[in-house]
Amino acid sequence: MLQQSTIKSFQSQVVSWQKQHGRHQLPWQQPSDPYRVLVSELMLQQTQVSTVIPYFTRWMQSFPTVQALAAASTDQVMAHWQGLGYYARARNLHKAAGYICALGEFPATLAQWLQVPGVGRYTAGAIMSFAYDAYGPIVDGNVRRLYARFFAISGVTSSAAVDKQLWALAEQLTPTEHCKSFAQGLLDLGATICKPRNPLCEQCPLALNCQALLQNRVDELPTAKPKKIVPVKEGHFLWIEQAGQIFLQKRPTPGIWAALWSLPQVVADDTLLLEAKKQGEFVHQFTHYRLNATVWQLEPAHLPRYAQVQEQQPGDWYHKSKLAEVGLPAPIRSFIEQQPDFSPQSDREGAKPDID
Ligand code: ADE
Repeated sequence: MLQQSTIKSFQSQVVSWQKQHGRHQLPWQQPSDPYRVLVSELMLQQTQVSTVIPYFTRWMQSFPTVQALAAASTDQVMAHWQGLGYYARARNLHKAAGYICALGEFPATLAQWLQVPGVGRYTAGAIMSFAYDAYGPIVDGNVRRLYARFFAISGVTSSAAVDKQLWALAEQLTPTEHCKSFAQGLLDLGATICKPRNPLCEQCPLALNCQALLQNRVDELPTAKPKKIVPVKEGHFLWIEQAGQIFLQKRPTPGIWAALWSLPQVVADDTLLLEAKKQGEFVHQFTHYRLNATVWQLEPAHLPRYAQVQEQQPGDWYHKSKLAEVGLPAPIRSFIEQQPDFSPQSDREGAKPDID
């Protein structure tokens, strides 16, 4: 248990630093209603603020309310997420919108938010703090690093034991007043001062009591995760092109790139290798494995032989001019755009110059 004096001084240092030096102009901060906070927090999991901002802005233009999001099709939702990665977040957000609309109102307590699909402990705490200015403990990557240093906690911060310890600290340290500034202050300190490398300890409002700094262990905390050996998988995809159109297939749910449109993925058997010629290769790094992909060019006449590809999942022809409107996984889009007739510039070739 922490002493009341430790808690109070930690809270007031974080809050007053945030008010003076923290970020106040992020798009989801004005206004910070529950829907905007929900969307931004799901986008910000695993993704940097600078990447999220344009996605958030476009999202709010297309789906300004939770009702608009609930009413949208999966394809529309996925198309707005394409390029952000970790697509389960988009599907969860869509489900969350449906759940909230069925409920008829936004949940009002931490416990109620935890019932919403895709909303975990961190997101529920962030929504309580940012949207309601109410008590809401948060522990994300930034907060883990800050607490691990401030309290000189050894051990990988995502391990079950350290995770439990960090949440117990968060529950005690989180105030019931100035909740929004406190939560934003933790995230801002983690992002701008208590950075993973080269932290700016001389500018940190918590420096006088930071145990890692006092023990000269800032560089060794938080404890680094042991490096994993990443497995490699082979993937085979089809390139079937006809009159400026490419054949795409919706990916099954669940699975990688679920509900996005992709070049059809197949098992490479002898027939495929006889009928097809290699169109190209690409490599994509997922969190848990590396995908070495080969793309095989197939004549449209051979498509019926791969009919099972179509039957399991919807497939369709997309003209190159329509690809911008389809939700495609980033590596598939980049592969397609590298092909001579499908580069985004190729449409402009032969176009009249844009001058009078
Ligand atoms: N990272 C996660 N949530 C954030 C927020 N609300 N502001 C800035 N960075 C964040």
